[in-house]
Amino acid sequence: MARKKISLIGGGQIGGVLAQLCALRELGDVVLFDIVEGLPQGKMLDIAEVGPVDGFDVNLKGTNSYEDIKDSDIVIVTAGLPRKPGMSRDDLIEVNSKIMTQVAEGIKQYAPNSIVIVISNPLDAMVTLCQKITGFPYNRVIGQAGVLDSSRFAAFIAWELGVSVKDVVAMTLGGHGDDMVPLVRYTSVCGIPVMELLEQKYGSAAKAKEVMEAMVKRTRGAGGEVVALLKTGSAFYSPASSAIAMAESILGDQKRVLPTCAYLQGEFGVNGYYVGVPCVLGEKGIERIIQFKLDAEEQAMMDKSVAAVKGLVDSMKL
Ligand code: APR
Repeated sequence: MARKKISLIGGGQIGGVLAQLCALRELGDVVLFDIVEGLPQGKMLDIAEVGPVDGFDVNLKGTNSYEDIKDSDIVIVTAGLPRKPGMSRDDLIEVNSKIMTQVAEGIKQYAPNSIVIVISNPLDAMVTLCQKITGFPYNRVIGQAGVLDSSRFAAFIAWELGVSVKDVVAMTLGGHGDDMVPLVRYTSVCGIPVMELLEQKYGSAAKAKEVMEAMVKRTRGAGGEVVALLKTGSAFYSPASSAIAMAESILGDQKRVLPTCAYLQGEFGVNGYYVGVPCVLGEKGIERIIQFKLDAEEQAMMDKSVAAVKGLVDSMKL
């Protein structure tokens, strides 16, 4: 049986970690594409040479030619500039739109049957553009943001409560911007509502609320917190791991329910925009969008987040 083929467009910080994770997990043969000559070839040679130590046996190729992504099962896109301290993700739209246009044309021509996972920012706009240019069905062009945003939220909760990160289930909805919607009501530790545990810890509902509000705020600004520390780029380990979780669910037809930037056609009151919502990810890409009830406060936050996405997407005049 033929091995799966994963192509990574963009061989920078995230692209390199993606390649290494694909190899370590033997997800399939991997192609790393970048426009910079030598960069993807060098990174793939570096990773391949440690195969005997790590014990992975897959083909790794670095390239500057789109032809090499032919017959990919999955393409993960990280091409584009990262932000610098003080920038919002939205500030990247002009430069990254030009890059995404080239990338999507390459994918359309050489990997027409692939499932595409976009990571480049501003995420919701870049996924929209990628789908428009490739013309692929909506279930095959998706974005990674929510897995990471939810993971950050879960990590903060685990640290606060002194419990394992493995036992926190948290979810964020909405756009991948400062208005994203961490869903406190649906967040639990081993099934126990998180607010109950915070109230136990602090002995007061008001203090528990204050602590949760601080964690929600930190989640919304978590990408910027990393940018401010790094000064020369944005988070790269965490977006890579998050996209790999999505790719694994698709390649293994696992049907995991993961927050995914998906094209909505009426769900959550949104029509015709890509927004983060929980989705079943399997061999067809998005196999189902999971809807559930939001209360008035959650819906208001979702509406605000969607309004920000709309403003940005509409500014591209597609
Ligand atoms: N085609 C392919 N690759 C390109 C193109 C292009 N037209 N233009 C730039 N690139 C490559 C760069 O050469 C670089 O190697 O994209 C890579 C981006 O890597 P980094 O600058 O290291 O950025 P990274 O941290 O990987 O983030 C990439 O993901 O999370 C988002 O905001 C982040 O938009 C950014 C993207």
